[in-house]
Parts: sequence; C-alpha cells; structure tokens
Amino acid sequence: MRKKVIAGNWKMNKTASEAEAFIKEVAPLVKGAGCTVVACVPFTDLAAAVKAAKRTNIKIGAQNLHYEKSGAFTGEVSADMLLDLGVKYVIIGHSERRQYFGETDETVNLKLKAALAAGLSPIVCVGELLSEREDGVTPEVLRRQVKIAFKDVSADEAKKVIIAYEPVWAIGTGKTATSDQADEACKTIRDCVAVLFGKSTASKIIIQYGGSMNAKNAADLLKKPNVDGGLIGGASLKSADFAAIVEAAR
Ligand code: 13P
Repeated sequence: MRKKVIAGNWKMNKTASEAEAFIKEVAPLVKGAGCTVVACVPFTDLAAAVKAAKRTNIKIGAQNLHYEKSGAFTGEVSADMLLDLGVKYVIIGHSERRQYFGETDETVNLKLKAALAAGLSPIVCVGELLSEREDGVTPEVLRRQVKIAFKDVSADEAKKVIIAYEPVWAIGTGKTATSDQADEACKTIRDCVAVLFGKSTASKIIIQYGGSMNAKNAADLLKKPNVDGGLIGGASLKSADFAAIVEAAR
C-alpha cells in the first residue's frame, strides 16, 4: 500500500507573513490526515513556513532548485540552502518552469540528481501538451520525460522520488483530466518506471495527479489505483479546499 501524498504548489502566491498565517490556519484542519501533507511555497516564504509548520504534520517544500552546489549563478538557490532551512521536498520541472524558464528534460535530470544527493524528496513533474494529447503521443511524451529525468539514477534512489503527472492543458484551466485519463497516464508512467528499475520500484513509487484538482473532483481522481495523491495549485491556496482534498485522500 502506497501512502498518498497531497502537496500544495502555491506558485507565486502569498508573502512570508501570509504563509505563516495560512499554515497556522490549515494545520488544525489537516492534523488527522491519512496521507502525507506538503506545502510547496515560494523561496521567500520557506523560513516562515518551516517555523509555522513545526510540531504539525505539514512538511514544507520548495518549487525549484539549482543543480550546482554553489557558485556564480545569480538569483539561484541550491539544494543545501533548502536543506539548511528545514525544507524536505522540492518540485522539479514544473511545466511552468519548462514553458517560461527554459527548463528541459536534461536540466530536470541534473536537478533531480542534485536533490537526491542532498537528501531532499523530489517531486518531478511530467505531462503532455494539448496538441500532443490530440496527436495521440501522450505515452511517448511521458516515457521520454521520465526516461531522461531518471538518467543515471539508481533504483534505490528512484524509490524516493515522487512523480507528478500534470497534463499541461489541465493546469489552471479548470479542465481536469477524467479520472480514467489520469489513471491511464499514471499507469503509463508506472510501467515506464518498471522497465527502467523493475516491478518492485514501480510498485513503491508515488505518482500524483495535478491539474485543476479541487475539493469536488479529488475523491474521484484519488480512488484510482495508479493515482497516489495530488499536486494542487489554485485549490491549495484556500484552507478549506486544501483540507477537503487532504480528507478525500483518506
Ligand atoms: P492548478 O491546480 O491551479 O490547475 O495547478 C496545478 C499545478 O500546476 C500544480 O503544480
């Protein structure tokens, strides 16, 4: 049995003081959760969020990292810097980073290896564009993204990775994948992990769905056998909605 992981991706929302207030508000609502609860917050909110989440079951994650340990990379943040703050999770290769900030399957691979080497829990995002779904190449796209992301990663390390299936056409659009579409894509990803690392790793790896998941549709998506949780954008910014999704993962 895989324990589900419900992670909020706040994207570029909430100041540090808003983050502190929000974590304090949401903590009592999710304290009896049957799943792992994560909030991935902006860099500037991390310290405040880690402090507010102390003695709660909420784990704090970042939304990006640089793959080098240190050096002349103005504006970037390394895995060690995150770790030192008490950060446990990090999102890697979100489609918005691929779309607006030039991230590629290759940089995702470098970032994944850096996160694993530091002992962070990576959440690696994959997902097809609308045109790719319409052209019937979703499985090929997912397999390419997974294969390159996990290049030179061992089976032992692969087990620690969370993969988020986020169809780009469902992100922030209000268009959710049907639970069958989500399950099918998560199965494609799991089968690819099995080819790369064997059945045992594939049966242990957590694969989330993300894309317009909300308090209404979460239960339907989360009951699918290959959907082990959610990566939630908009609905993670409201405490009642986020708590309802956490509850739906029970
Ligand atoms: P929405 O839930 O706002 O569609 O965002 C999904 C997402 O991108 C999570 O990483």
